[in-house]
Amino acid sequence: MTIIASLLRGAELPDSPTARLDIELLLAAAIGKSRSYLHTWPERIVSSEAAQTFASYLQRRRAGEPVAYILGQQGFWNLDLEVAPHTLIPRPETELLVETALALLPAEPAKVLDLGTGTGAIALALASERRQWQVTAVDRVLEAVALAERNRQRLQLDNVTVLTSHWFSALAEQRFQLIISNPPYIAAEDPHLVAGDVRFEPSSALVAGNDGLDDLRQIVAEAPAHLLAGGWLLLEHGYDQAAAVRELLARHGFEQIESRLDLGGHERITLGRLSC
Ligand SMILES: C[S@@+](CC[C@H](N)C(=O)[O-])C[C@H]1O[C@@H](n2cnc3c(N)ncnc32)[C@H](O)[C@@H]1O
Repeated sequence: MTIIASLLRGAELPDSPTARLDIELLLAAAIGKSRSYLHTWPERIVSSEAAQTFASYLQRRRAGEPVAYILGQQGFWNLDLEVAPHTLIPRPETELLVETALALLPAEPAKVLDLGTGTGAIALALASERRQWQVTAVDRVLEAVALAERNRQRLQLDNVTVLTSHWFSALAEQRFQLIISNPPYIAAEDPHLVAGDVRFEPSSALVAGNDGLDDLRQIVAEAPAHLLAGGWLLLEHGYDQAAAVRELLARHGFEQIESRLDLGGHERITLGRLSC
């Protein structure tokens, strides 16, 4: 017979920088309770089935698999999202894109496009904050499109449409007030791709050519044909890509170009506007 406290004490994840948190999240999920339950009821008995589930979760985490993939879920903005290995686990720094988008447009009806939606994180966060916006969310990976659609349905966000599209290919002549994207932006040979949790994420969500800018170049070049006059393009990029993205935006006729810092102090997003 095992109790919560002894499972917590006995568990080890030597290679995880967030070991304690990971252990608590995995145990809470294995017993179907919240993290606070673990500390409120440390003497409660854990069934042998739940203890085995916890052991198998720990084994997967020790092999490097991210907690979000083990549990199949991740929080983003104020939403609980289903996640899967076909696309990126939403990152906290991407919330800066959501925050910036909400401040750019007035709270009035608008058409918004999220390119490379993955789990649907950005589109669903925007749609949950602005019920009067019509948000189109696209991805090229079919499994990501299905995942985003499941998240949309579970969250009952009827103001989002999820489509399969290679960037703008399925959008014909449609134009938007705001196009937002967190595209792949890592260089193919970047050593980060073979380290830590990122190893488990698909290259379709991460890699963009030799310098990491292939997708950003394509999006910036094609966006003007899909923006209304005065429309905004808002992009996440690598910590060292802001100057290159600003130059791309300027070359394609954007104005009011600026980059913003993430919480780590890196220029993480860049935006530009078409003239009115
Ligand atoms: C960095 S992930 C971002 C996912 C999500 N927007 C987020 O912030 O968590 C990039 C996404 O772009 C998608 N993608 C890659 N190439 C694409 C393309 N050519 N057209 C549409 N989506 C693409 C990937 O499948 C992946 O879901």
